[in-house]
Amino acid sequence: MIIFYLNDQRIEVSLSPGVTVLDFVRKHQRLTGTKIGCREGDCGACTVLVGSLEHGNLTYRSMTSCLMPLANAYGKHIVTVEGINGNNLTPVQETLVNHNGTQCGFCTIGFVMSLTGFTLSDKRVEKAIASIDGNICRCTGYKSIERAAGEIAETIKSKPEEDTLGWLVEKNYVPEYFLSIKDKLKSIPFAEKETLGNTNFTGGGTDLFVQKPEHMTHENFVPLFDDPKLNDIEERDGMCYLGASVTVTDIAESAVMQRIFPDLEQYVKLVSSTPIRNMATIAGNFVNASPIGDMTIFFLALDSSLVLKNGPHSREVKLRDFYKGYKQLDKDPEEIIEKIFFEIPEEPFRFNFEKVCKRTHLDIASVNAACLLTFDEDGKIVKAHLSAGGLAPIPKYLAETSVFLK
Ligand code: FES
Ligand code: FES
Repeated sequence: MIIFYLNDQRIEVSLSPGVTVLDFVRKHQRLTGTKIGCREGDCGACTVLVGSLEHGNLTYRSMTSCLMPLANAYGKHIVTVEGINGNNLTPVQETLVNHNGTQCGFCTIGFVMSLTGFTLSDKRVEKAIASIDGNICRCTGYKSIERAAGEIAETIKSKPEEDTLGWLVEKNYVPEYFLSIKDKLKSIPFAEKETLGNTNFTGGGTDLFVQKPEHMTHENFVPLFDDPKLNDIEERDGMCYLGASVTVTDIAESAVMQRIFPDLEQYVKLVSSTPIRNMATIAGNFVNASPIGDMTIFFLALDSSLVLKNGPHSREVKLRDFYKGYKQLDKDPEEIIEKIFFEIPEEPFRFNFEKVCKRTHLDIASVNAACLLTFDEDGKIVKAHLSAGGLAPIPKYLAETSVFLK
C-alpha cells in the first residue's frame, strides 16, 4: 500500500510502485493541470512539488512527475497546480500574467509550480531564477518569465524566518490546508524497506524512467529513495560519510560539503536541473555506471570508497575498483550501496570539477573531469587524484596520471 497526500487528499493505493506520479495524477485522479511534454525530465511541464518531513521540518522541492515512481511518493505531500489554486490566481500566477510570462500556456503550470516551490523554500532573487532552470518555454523567450521571477522574489523579501508557511498562506501563495500537512504526514506509518533477498532496487529513478519507462511501470522494485537510514551526510574523524540515497541537492545544501568545497554550488549547477537534482541519488549515479556520470567523476577524484551491504554482511570497495567494464560492477545483485565515504583533504588543497558540453547548463557531458591536489608547505604536490568521464567505457580514475603528478 502506498500512502501519501495528494493536495489536500489522503491517498492509499495499491498500484505497481513504478506507475509514475504523472500518470497517477492525470489518469487515475483526473487532475490534468499537470502537463506531459517530453516524459524525459527535460521540459518541466510535469513539475509538481513534493513536501517531505525532514528532522521534523516540512520542506518542499520541485520534481518532474514523469520520472517519479509512485513508490517514491510514500509519506510525502504531492502538490499539483490544482492543490495551490483557490478561487483566485495566486500571486505567482498573477505576476506571470502581468509580465506576459505566458503565451500558449503549455509550459506555464511547470513554471508556476517551480516558482511556488521557490516561495516555500527561499527568497533570494538568484534562487528564483535558479528554481526555473528545469523549465523550458518555446514561446516567450524567457525574459518576461525572468522579470516575473524577479518580482516574485522582491515581493517575498519580507517573508519571515519563523512561521513562513503561515505568512505564505496569509498572502495567498498556498491554500490554508498546507498548515495541516505536517501533522498529516506524521500520521503516515513508517514503511520499512525490505532489501534482504531482493535484487531489484531503485533510487530517484531519473535515469531508469528515461531508459525503460514501459518496463519500469510494471516492475516490482524496492524503492531506496529518501530512506531515512541512507540519508545523512556527516563528518567524523577526518572522514566524510554520505548515505546512499542522498540527492545531488542534499549534497549542495550540506553544511559539511559546503565547508570542504567552497565552490560546491558552481560544480553542482553543472549537473542537470533543479528538479532532477532534487530526485537523483548518488548511489543511483554510481550504479547507473554511465561513463560520464557527473557525481561519479566528482567522487572518484576524492578517491572515495563504497560500503556495500547485503543483509547483515557488508564490505568496502574503492569507487575506482567498482567498475569492471561497460555497465559491469563489482556488486552482487543482492547488494545495495549503503554509503560512500572519503578522507577530507587537508589544507592546503585544490579541488575542481568541470564539464565540456554543447551547452553549459542542462546538458549531458561530452567530457567531464575532476581533480584533487594536496600540497605541502613548499607548494609541492603530496597527493593527487584525477578522474575523467567520456574517455573510456567506464568512469575513469586516472591512476597513472595521479601517480605521475605526485
Ligand atoms: Fe517533460 Fe516531465 S514531461 S519533464
Ligand atoms: Fe508556450 Fe511557454 S508559453 S511553451
